[in-house]
Amino acid sequence: MNRERFPGLRDGWARLDGPAGTQMVDVAIDAMTEWMRSGHGANAHGAFAAAQETDELVESTRVAVATLFGAEPHGVVFGPSMTALTMRFAATAAKEWSAGDEIVCTRLDHDANVRPWIIAAERAGATVRFADPEPGSLELPARAVEAVLSERTRWVAVTAASNAVGTVPDLEGIVAAAHAAGARVYVDAVHATPHRRIDASGLGVDAVACSAYKWFGPHGSVLWGRPELLEELAPDKLRPSSDAVPFRWELGTPSFEAIAGIVAAARYVMSLGYESIKAHEDALMARMLSGLAAIDGVTLYGRARDRTPTAMFTVAGMNADEVATKLAAEKVAVWNGNYYALELSRFLDLEPHGAVRAGLVHYNDEEDVDRLLQAVQKL
Ligand SMILES: Cc1ncc(COP(=O)(O)O)c(C=O)c1O
Repeated sequence: MNRERFPGLRDGWARLDGPAGTQMVDVAIDAMTEWMRSGHGANAHGAFAAAQETDELVESTRVAVATLFGAEPHGVVFGPSMTALTMRFAATAAKEWSAGDEIVCTRLDHDANVRPWIIAAERAGATVRFADPEPGSLELPARAVEAVLSERTRWVAVTAASNAVGTVPDLEGIVAAAHAAGARVYVDAVHATPHRRIDASGLGVDAVACSAYKWFGPHGSVLWGRPELLEELAPDKLRPSSDAVPFRWELGTPSFEAIAGIVAAARYVMSLGYESIKAHEDALMARMLSGLAAIDGVTLYGRARDRTPTAMFTVAGMNADEVATKLAAEKVAVWNGNYYALELSRFLDLEPHGAVRAGLVHYNDEEDVDRLLQAVQKL
C-alpha cells in the first residue's frame, strides 16, 4: 500500500525494520520542511504572528493526536521519546506511593514500560510484580494480570502490542480487572499504533504513550493522560513555565518541526483507516509465517490469536546477529537481539543473542516477504 509515498523505500531494500522505526511518509517530510522554510520558527506563547502560528501548530497537533486516540486534546503532552515521557510519568506517579504499594508490569513489555516503573517503585519502597504471558502462545489474557493484582496495586503498566512477537494483549479485560482492583492503567502504544486503533477513552485507560517515528512520522513522542489525572499528579518543572495542563508536563521547548511532522503523520494514519491496514498486514503476515515455518531449522516464537505482523524467529546453528548480517547482504533489513523486550527475551531463555525480528507495516508487500523467505532459505 502507498509505497510511492515513502521516499525511503526507493533504494530497493526489503525494509522489515518497521518496529524499530518506520520510513517517513511524504506529507510528514514536506510538513517539516515547509515549517522550517516558512519563517514560522518562533518559540511558543509570544505576542507576534510567528509565535502565534507556533501555538496554532501545537494545538492542532494535540487535536490530531487526540483524534487518533479517541481522546481529549487537553490531555496530549509532547516529549522527546516514549522512554523519556514514561520515566517522567512513573516518577511523578510515584510521588503518591508509599511502602508496600504494588505496581504491575508484564514480561511482554519493552523495557521502556518496565524499568521506569521499577526505578520509581524502588524509590517509593513499592514492589513491582510481573504478569507473565502464556508459555507457547505468548498471549497475555486478563487472568495473567489478575493473578498479580492486589488491593495494594496502584498502577498496571502494559503494552498494547508486543514489539517482539506482536501479541495484542486483552487490553479491555486488563483495564477492567485493574480498575476493579482500584489500580490505574498506563499503556505503551508504541508498537501498536501503526497497526491497531487504540481507543484510549473507550478503553478507559488512564494514560497512553507512543512515538511518531513508529507510525511514519518524525522522532518525537506523545503521551495522553486523562486530564483530571494530569491535574492531580505534580511533575517536576521549572518555576516560570505554565502550571496548567498539559503544559506543565512538557519540559523546555519541544521540537516544533517534529510536531509539524507528527500532525501530518497522524492525519495520514487516520486517512488510511485501520481496517485496510489490518487486512493488508494480516495477509502478508500469513504468507511470512507459513513461509518461515516451512523452512528447516527455523523456530518461530509466539502464536497469539490477535497479533501485529511482527515475527520473531531463530535459525538453528546461527546466532541472531549472524542471521541479520547475512540477510542484510541480500538487502533484507531485519532486527536482531532483544529489541529492549528484555523480560520476554529472558522469559524465552534467548539471552544473550536474542532472536531475529521481521516486522511488517502497511507499506510492505509480497516481494518484501518473499525476499526474506528466500534469504532465510539460503541460510
Ligand atoms: C513497544 C515499545 N515501547 C517503547 C519503545 C521506546 O520508544 P522510544 O524510542 O520513543 O523511547 C519502543 C521502541 O522501540 C517500543 O517498540
